[in-house]
Amino acid sequence: MGSCGLATGADEVYESVREEVERLGLPYRVAATGCIGWCCQEPLVDVCLPRKPRITYGHMDAHKARELVRGIPKGDLKLDWSIGMLTGWDNPLTGTGTRYAKVAARVDGVPRYDELGLFRNQARWATRNCGVIDPASLEEYIARGGYMALYRALHAMPPEKILAEVSRSGLRGRGGAGFPTGKKWELMRRQAATPKYLICNGDEGDPGAYMDRAVLEGDPHSVLEGMLIGARGMGASEGIIYVREEYPLAVRRMQEAIAQAESAGLLGENIFHSDFDFRVRIVKGAGAFVCGEETALIASVEGRVGEPRQRPPFPVERGLWGKPTCINNVETWANIPLIVMRGGEWFSRLGTTKSKGTKVFCLVGAVKNTALVEVPMGMTIRQIVNNIGGGPLEGRRLKAVQTGGPSGGCIPESLFDLKVDYESLTGAGAIMGSGGMIVMDDSTCMVDIAKYFLTFLAEESCGKCFSCRKGLQRMRDLLTDISQGRGRESDLQLLEDLAWMIRETSLCGLGQTAPNPVLSTLRYFRDEYLAHVRERRCPAKVCRELIIYHIDPTLCDGCGACVRVCTSEAVFGEKKKVHVIDNARCIKCGACLEVCQPKAVVVT
Ligand SMILES: Cc1cc2nc3c(=O)[nH]c(=O)nc-3n(C[C@H](O)[C@H](O)[C@H](O)COP(=O)(O)O)c2cc1C
Repeated sequence: MGSCGLATGADEVYESVREEVERLGLPYRVAATGCIGWCCQEPLVDVCLPRKPRITYGHMDAHKARELVRGIPKGDLKLDWSIGMLTGWDNPLTGTGTRYAKVAARVDGVPRYDELGLFRNQARWATRNCGVIDPASLEEYIARGGYMALYRALHAMPPEKILAEVSRSGLRGRGGAGFPTGKKWELMRRQAATPKYLICNGDEGDPGAYMDRAVLEGDPHSVLEGMLIGARGMGASEGIIYVREEYPLAVRRMQEAIAQAESAGLLGENIFHSDFDFRVRIVKGAGAFVCGEETALIASVEGRVGEPRQRPPFPVERGLWGKPTCINNVETWANIPLIVMRGGEWFSRLGTTKSKGTKVFCLVGAVKNTALVEVPMGMTIRQIVNNIGGGPLEGRRLKAVQTGGPSGGCIPESLFDLKVDYESLTGAGAIMGSGGMIVMDDSTCMVDIAKYFLTFLAEESCGKCFSCRKGLQRMRDLLTDISQGRGRESDLQLLEDLAWMIRETSLCGLGQTAPNPVLSTLRYFRDEYLAHVRERRCPAKVCRELIIYHIDPTLCDGCGACVRVCTSEAVFGEKKKVHVIDNARCIKCGACLEVCQPKAVVVT
């Protein structure tokens, strides 16, 4: 029951299960969990019975849910609706796991989770509890080993040891730049000024990204525990969780978690009967992408306009209210309890030489399994897209993957054997960013994609730097011209010149990385740009001004499906006779193409 599940009707499903259980007087407990990441199957229901595996049902609705509940007491588990069986769920925090009944083989064709590529290839560390526990229950978090790391950090580790373990782990910030967390914490600890602040950056303004939301909604205590341990290590007394206003459920879950932790003595004074005090409050952001940048975020918390400022001084030297401030991403904080419990050495065993541990990605776009996944650093793009994502959609060819959010880059299919780590992605002209991974197939126009991201970034530029403000607008206008058939070949050089100028002269990471979508598509897909400017042709048949829709008379059977879906009344024809499209009226929405069974609608 994360936001994504709720958007597909999970609350209705939950209510109907609850009502049916109550109506029949069944001795079952109905509980909500956060997001397990199986986005393409939402809403999901799990049934856990003694001596049975945990059985998962996908695409549930209220009606099916009631029927499922009615069948359970009769032993009818509706296995034909099931999409997977969970026999165990490893807990990286404790090195143990929750075991459900073992099933040796498939039951009536229902695969086990460990047989599903989507789950088999993941290492769920930061998302260890998401979709497993009830996020509103402190007890369930504790039952999975929660707050044990904090106890250890307070009673068995001097602050220097906490920092040493974080440094040893090789953990790098998951918010985008990949700065070594241990190094930042050391710098922070050395600051003499007090009070010291910690901030959890949950702004997450990138389109297509929801990693941090899933953790805040699905396992809020893991973030709190990470911050508490960080506060002990760095000597901070106050924490702020910065979450965007558009994430109301994440805000609610965090509020609940803070209240529970306070009443259990896990936040406030003398935590765990120690001399350690720490308080946390939530600040809601107004939803500007640039407010995710750390100095803009601080300005926003202080009630000023969210504009980045020159660094140095860095926030650890002079941050919130001029005091030392350590800002880390949600996922970074959620990893901390693992490092304290299992040790930095253990954490660093997974990953590549310079990128340790795991990374959460939102795998979206043209793959069979759109999902929230967590993979070991160093897994190749091909493994993520094919083994976890299930490969391209039926009849489609993979073309590229876009990583790193709006200011990331597009990596072509020929480079899919690239390892996902900070250095490899940057070397290929993309960035790790916070974890967006958008898969594109042959139905995507790369000029259109570059235009989409540049439009977003031009709107989100705070405007402080002239080069970013005007330069991005100019790049967006050039891309619009190219996609509408008014581009010239010399525009490609102009785009490149502008890109380098903006990158070199912008103050913050927004401007410095904003040209990436254009530079990477020009680097790998220049032929598509050339087709647009030289031949006024869009090879992917996407750019509306460069395509027309018509009906192949030899294939049309006059069924009328296209007439019914056309909102602009552009399709004509009598029943059972060949239809035609009036191009003066056609808005090229593609609705007719989608519904035409005999594939008579053609785009040229
Ligand atoms: C335009 C822009 C947007 C950003 N948005 C986010 C964000 O939403 N979440 C985040 O954690 N970091 C974001 N960052 C990175 C932060 O400035 C900062 O590096 C990060 O929060 C530090 O935490 P980490 O070391 O754990 O990654 C953004 C940076 C830029 C330039």
